Amino acid sequence: MAFRNWKQELDDRRPPPPSRWPFIRNTAAALVLLAGGACTALWVWPGYLKPRPWVRPGPAPAALRILLSSDLSGYIEPCGCTEQRWGGIARQASAVRRGKAPASIALDVGDMTAGARRWQQVGLETYLQALGAMEYTAANLGSREIGLSAAALRDLAARSPVPLVSANVREEAGGALLVAPYRQVMTGNLRVTVVGVVAPDPQRPLGEGVRVQDVDEALSKLLPTLRAETDVIVLLAAADEPTIRKVAASHPEADVVLGGRVAQASKSVLTVGSSRVVALADKGQMIAQVDVAISPDGRPGAAQSRMILLDNAVPEDPAMLDLAGRYNAELSRLNRTGGLKALGVPTLAPPAGENAYVGAEACRACHPKEFQSWSTSKHARAYASLVRRQRDSNPDCVSCHVVDLGAGDGFLGLPASPDRLDVQCEACHGRGAAHVRSRAAGQTVVNMPRVLPGSCQVCHDCTHSPKFTYETYWEAIKHGPDKKKTPPASGPGVDGGDPGGVGARPGGG
Ligand code: HEC
Ligand code: HEC
Ligand code: HEC
Ligand code: HEC
Repeated sequence: MAFRNWKQELDDRRPPPPSRWPFIRNTAAALVLLAGGACTALWVWPGYLKPRPWVRPGPAPAALRILLSSDLSGYIEPCGCTEQRWGGIARQASAVRRGKAPASIALDVGDMTAGARRWQQVGLETYLQALGAMEYTAANLGSREIGLSAAALRDLAARSPVPLVSANVREEAGGALLVAPYRQVMTGNLRVTVVGVVAPDPQRPLGEGVRVQDVDEALSKLLPTLRAETDVIVLLAAADEPTIRKVAASHPEADVVLGGRVAQASKSVLTVGSSRVVALADKGQMIAQVDVAISPDGRPGAAQSRMILLDNAVPEDPAMLDLAGRYNAELSRLNRTGGLKALGVPTLAPPAGENAYVGAEACRACHPKEFQSWSTSKHARAYASLVRRQRDSNPDCVSCHVVDLGAGDGFLGLPASPDRLDVQCEACHGRGAAHVRSRAAGQTVVNMPRVLPGSCQVCHDCTHSPKFTYETYWEAIKHGPDKKKTPPASGPGVDGGDPGGVGARPGGG
């Protein structure tokens, strides 16, 4: 069969001779179509008539291990205020790696970020990167994450290396879910579905454009549809304890309910209806290891849990230390380029009244002994401690190591307010301008309020100063005319509020 050169024929302007080509072409096309149709029909049709049941690719594992973190609250690294350094992503990574089992998943219940401010979002992104590197299966949105705007959450979900889940966080306009409602994975021949929900914390505002659907409403639609296609349903519930129990009781489809935002981590696994419940808190200072027994047909049985403290005994993962370093470098970059504003630290206007911070230097002339005592104390070098560790750009650290971060007359960053570094007199005594003015004018009114022991704990809290007792710590910094005297034994803070007016301390002056 000779195919002719069409072009040449056209050029020759001769009419083309009859050809068998169109016939062959049409027949071939018809055959291909027919064969394709037959194959499709054969493949699809029996599937419609008789759905093939899912077949486990191998034997079910004896147990499913869940490694659980919660409530990091922005603590990418332990604070470094004491020798015992708890938590941080570097220890978390080592503990999660050690905990891996033939069938295991790692999950975060949420409350990963400290808040929705710029520097806190940098922290959240860092943590999500860390969870991605730790091969987490999913991270749930907690009450702090839903303080981010709908746009920010969408953007985060698109970029996060660890899948974000939440079945009840929606866009206010339109009502679409902002992140995936659940994630299904196969581990050790077991099909696991991880669903997330959050109950908002009434103390925290919702982000712009975010609506939170009722937890029960969201779950009663979703869980029954998931039941058929999975062996184990794990529910991540960022909620308070009563809500976690209630959710577990009213949704028996959830085999395991893992909660956060509780006052104390569960000591053991709680059984509520047919669900096993474990809750975890504590600013990323521990992770939970939950082992759920699995029957040969893949059904979950009894569960056991164990808390793993992320203390000095857990080694720090070098890659995570590196990531934490990059986080600090990013905060420094923001601080260098735009100060507190770029970091997103809220700042106030200077106080309108007569009183303001004046700085320790202003007290020196009239209180030389107190000044001397203070200037040799660690309070007078508190900012240098942060500089030494290159943490002076992290607002989470700076807040307790300066005078009133963000106040219009307090610390507003460098170079703006070099005279508000460190824990100066007014960090404890309150604003001093009115006192300085009246004493300079020779008045004898008492206008500095007493510093009550409770005010120390604003900074000396159990995370940052676990050994704190008022007696021992006051002993180290005592000053004033009657050093033996200890102030009244109780009280939340500075007596009498802002020292704007005239105090009425008996026997004062
Ligand atoms: C112009 C002098 C002067 C300056 C400046 C000054 N004080 Fe005083 N202060 C006094 C005198 C005088 C008293 C009463 C006698 C005493 O206790 O030493 C007093 C008392 C106090 C008291 C006891 C409560 C009271 O109101 O009587 C405190 C606390 C105090 N000063 C803190 C400070 C602090 C903090 C600063 C710096 C912000 C400061 N003072 C600056 C003169 C001054
Ligand atoms: C504004 C926050 C803040 C307040 C309020 C505060 N402190 Fe401190 N304190 C610090 C910081 C920060 C350090 C660590 C300084 C450093 O070494 O960098 C510190 C360190 C100390 C130390 C030294 C501890 C050591 O390791 O030797 C003593 C003692 C102390 N504080 C006592 C007190 C007492 C007593 C009170 C209450 C009357 C108090 N502090 C209130 C922030 C505060
Ligand atoms: C809630 C207040 C608070 C925050 C927030 C805080 N600190 Fe501190 N920091 C303290 C107190 C209080 C001490 C003194 C602890 C003690 O000696 O009991 C301290 C002490 C320190 C010290 C001195 C330890 C030493 O060598 O004597 C360093 C360094 C330090 N903090 C770094 C940090 C870093 C880094 C951060 C942020 C990740 C941070 N701090 C956040 C309150 C705070
Ligand atoms: C860490 C917190 C803290 C710092 C910093 C601090 N003080 Fe005090 N100061 C106290 C406490 C607590 C007392 C005892 C309770 C009281 O009298 O209010 C006190 C007492 C005093 C008194 C005696 C008050 C009286 O009863 O007559 C004076 C004066 C005073 N401080 C001045 C200063 C000056 C000046 C500075 C800075 C150079 C300073 N203090 C720094 C916490 C602090």
